[in-house]
Amino acid sequence: MSQTTQKIFQPLEEALAHHKPLGEERQGEAYMAAGAADARKLAYIETYGCQMNFSDTEIIASMLTDKGFSFTPNETEADLVLINTCSIRENAEQRVWHRLDHLKHIKKKRPGMMVGVVGCMAERLKTKLLDEEKLVDMVIGPDAYRSLPALIDEVESGQRAVNVLLSREETYAEIAPVRLNTNGVSAFISIMRGCNNMCSFCVVPFTRGRERSRDPESIVHEARELVSNGYREVTLLGQNVDSYRVEGTGFARLLERVAQVHPDLRVRFSTSNPRDMTDEVIHIIAAYPNICNFIHLPVQSGNTEILHKMNRGHHREWYLERIARIREIVPDIGLSTDIITGFCGETEAQHQDTLSLMEAVRYDSAFMFYYSERPGTPAAKKLPDDVPLEVKKRRLQEIVDLQNRHSLESNLKDVGCTFRVLIEGNSKRSESDWCGRNDQNKMLVFPKGSRTDLQPGSYVHVRVTQVTGATLIGEIV
Ligand code: 5AD
Ligand code: SF4
Repeated sequence: MSQTTQKIFQPLEEALAHHKPLGEERQGEAYMAAGAADARKLAYIETYGCQMNFSDTEIIASMLTDKGFSFTPNETEADLVLINTCSIRENAEQRVWHRLDHLKHIKKKRPGMMVGVVGCMAERLKTKLLDEEKLVDMVIGPDAYRSLPALIDEVESGQRAVNVLLSREETYAEIAPVRLNTNGVSAFISIMRGCNNMCSFCVVPFTRGRERSRDPESIVHEARELVSNGYREVTLLGQNVDSYRVEGTGFARLLERVAQVHPDLRVRFSTSNPRDMTDEVIHIIAAYPNICNFIHLPVQSGNTEILHKMNRGHHREWYLERIARIREIVPDIGLSTDIITGFCGETEAQHQDTLSLMEAVRYDSAFMFYYSERPGTPAAKKLPDDVPLEVKKRRLQEIVDLQNRHSLESNLKDVGCTFRVLIEGNSKRSESDWCGRNDQNKMLVFPKGSRTDLQPGSYVHVRVTQVTGATLIGEIV
């Protein structure tokens, strides 16, 4: 399941299925069928970016439902079109500009259609979005979704509306997300917002503001509700889950409390930070069978000097020590990472250090990108973006090729093994096959056979018979 910056658009179901890390660009349309003979207004929401953005879209949908909207999968019939945007790399923003261009044509035919840009690009570009696009009526940052109903009223009265205030408190704790486009099995629970880390390449602290943790009671309550609605898997989301803290509750304790909600509820989390990941968290993963043996632990680079320039707060040896500790406590852990290649001043030898770190760790999967300078970040202010694009691309290709080899080797080791799989739905290719993931986050595809008792949300044991680089293929045992 390795991938590069080239893989772009993905429907939400796939995003859920693969549990992409925060920061992976993808796009999905959110909709629910409008009720019969419903006079409610119609909203269309399109989401780009990370899992956190998809989770935010569910908060937005909740606000819109209260405001009397239903949802449509078709932007051409919508009264309100919202684009939930991502700024992590330049190409993520480019994609949104293209979509806005396309929406202009629709708006020409239907001038009454309201268009809002929300999320990270809204926060980064603010009123510039109103100036440059003779299209956008509303600009709303990630901490301002509660003002959505009032902003819609403003637009309806003929004004343009902007709220890009960041907050130190907002966690939308008590807002019940409206689960859009769900597979009914897996759901995201946002446990914190913002980020205090200040990695020098990263725009997130500027678009999502200061870090704040959500009240644990509301998180546990949401997990319970999900279980009673038939969900079997939750992913706890935060930019840096290891720094979750509300009074006496740190991340390890929160993870434990969510795991205790129901033994059949699988618990995943993203994203961990090597600087802050404690042994306590690893021990909790080991202690609870329903906490998945999978950690996404972004490394970004295998070279200590580059890590220092990135302000990552960890060096190569520290990272390798964390991996050794994780494998000591949870030997069958699945591991994935994020890598940025061609960061400011990266030499060939430093690039080789990233490849050698990958050899040392042997990730099961990775998300790999070349560096994209983001305006206003510490790196953009202080460090020249001096690695030529061809070099960045060549290094990225080397990293992708190596990871593809490692992913395949990791999958080949699973041939003949039996895994407990949570069924998520039909496989993409065939209605006669199920797909679902194992504890280590690997996707399995297997024939439904004669088992008519199974459905999405069922657990089943599957023996692996063949593999590709991305998928394990097997049979029910
Ligand atoms: N350029 C390229 N990749 C980036 N990421 C974050 N900022 C940038 C950037 N400016 C990647 C990191 C992060 C993931 C979410 O996106 O690898 O972990
Ligand atoms: Fe998510 Fe915003 Fe970061 Fe994009 S820029 S990955 S939407 S937090």
